[in-house]
Amino acid sequence: MPVFRYKLSSRPGPLTVEDYRARARRAVPDMVWAYVDYGAESMTTMDANRAAFDRYMLKSKVLTGHEATDLTTTLAGQDISVPILLAPTGAAGLSHWTGELGAAQAAERAGTLSIVSTAASYSFEEIAAGTERGHFFQLYPWADLTTGRHDLTHAMMKRVEHAGYSGMFVTVDVPTHGNRESEQKRGMGNPPVLTPKRVLDAALRPKWWAAFLKHQRMSLRNLIDPGERAGGARTAMKTLSRQFRMMRPELNWDDFAWMRENWDGPLYIKGVLDADDAERAVGLGADGVVVSNHGGRQLDCAVAALDALPAIADRVGGRAEVLLDGGIRRGTDIVKALCLGADGVCIGRPYLYGLAAAGPDGARHVVEILKSEMRRAMTLMGVANLDDLDASWLIPAGAPVPIVGR
Ligand SMILES: Cc1cc2nc3c(=O)[nH]c(=O)nc-3n(C[C@H](O)[C@H](O)[C@H](O)COP(=O)(O)O)c2cc1C
Repeated sequence: MPVFRYKLSSRPGPLTVEDYRARARRAVPDMVWAYVDYGAESMTTMDANRAAFDRYMLKSKVLTGHEATDLTTTLAGQDISVPILLAPTGAAGLSHWTGELGAAQAAERAGTLSIVSTAASYSFEEIAAGTERGHFFQLYPWADLTTGRHDLTHAMMKRVEHAGYSGMFVTVDVPTHGNRESEQKRGMGNPPVLTPKRVLDAALRPKWWAAFLKHQRMSLRNLIDPGERAGGARTAMKTLSRQFRMMRPELNWDDFAWMRENWDGPLYIKGVLDADDAERAVGLGADGVVVSNHGGRQLDCAVAALDALPAIADRVGGRAEVLLDGGIRRGTDIVKALCLGADGVCIGRPYLYGLAAAGPDGARHVVEILKSEMRRAMTLMGVANLDDLDASWLIPAGAPVPIVGR
């Protein structure tokens, strides 16, 4: 029996989401990195999303005698092995050519599901054909005021229903495009701007570059007009500008009510930070609310998602599912969100890091890392079930543990 294992390199494989982030940074060109990793304006909200988690510490109880920690749950009517869904991220084909298809396959292999973006690099039908389970569909409500208010949205809803998607997430925090200056400075505006320096930067990542050119996943496949060629830069530009046109400030609660009337499956509203808005959505028939500021990519200086969570969970929890996204990078972050009233969380950038660094295997590994961190944290806290997590497990960071019964 050997005592030591010898390896030529002493560098361990990626063990954390942050390890995947570092690898992803090296794997993709600057332009793509800016699109994935940066946020709006001064990135105040993006940073606040992370900082909010650090304001809480976790209590632990010893000798509780729990044998196993159960992470299984049901979200939007689907059984999953851990309360983590993959958040919709448009143009994931830029991070890795397998894009949203690779992400959905990774989610399945990790025992969970993906929410597929309207702005995906793969069509809803391609993803349905390449996966086993009914994933969720994210709608950018595209009000087409020239042909009739909901024609295009309706057509898309019918498409995904036909393809077997099991729930719809309507994103409402994009009435206009967030001001992501850091992206623009690196050439990722509308349209993207290539310079010789940027082409060279891409060429210095030969693996990424070769796959990018070979698989042509630049265009947003759900936004291609019938008869249009799927690959090619021209279609990519056209679909990108169509995506910008989808953002309509005139959308209102009547539109949301219309969506409820026209969609039979579970309906979630994504991008809510205000308890009155959450209440209104649930009053109109929403089955769930995603507390989210779009990962700090939309309104800069919007409240951190975790800080918005308790009031929303207090108002609609129990009547509707409450999910949270923004800034989750550790299993303990998920535990804290659940303690503050979330039924589950979504992750965006973390699985894109995995995808960029190591394809679908990397994305799957990221979910497995968070799952195992979460399980370990709950075991160390002495909590056996997700339902047992509540605010009594949290202590404000830096505050002394309250002295009770003195
Ligand atoms: C590159 C990228 C693309 C995104 N595209 C979409 C999208 O198409 N639709 C949507 O509702 N949210 C989109 N989001 C927001 C995510 O769904 C999610 O709210 C956010 O990433 C959560 O924050 P996190 O990245 O810190 O986990 C995108 C996020 C990123 C990073």
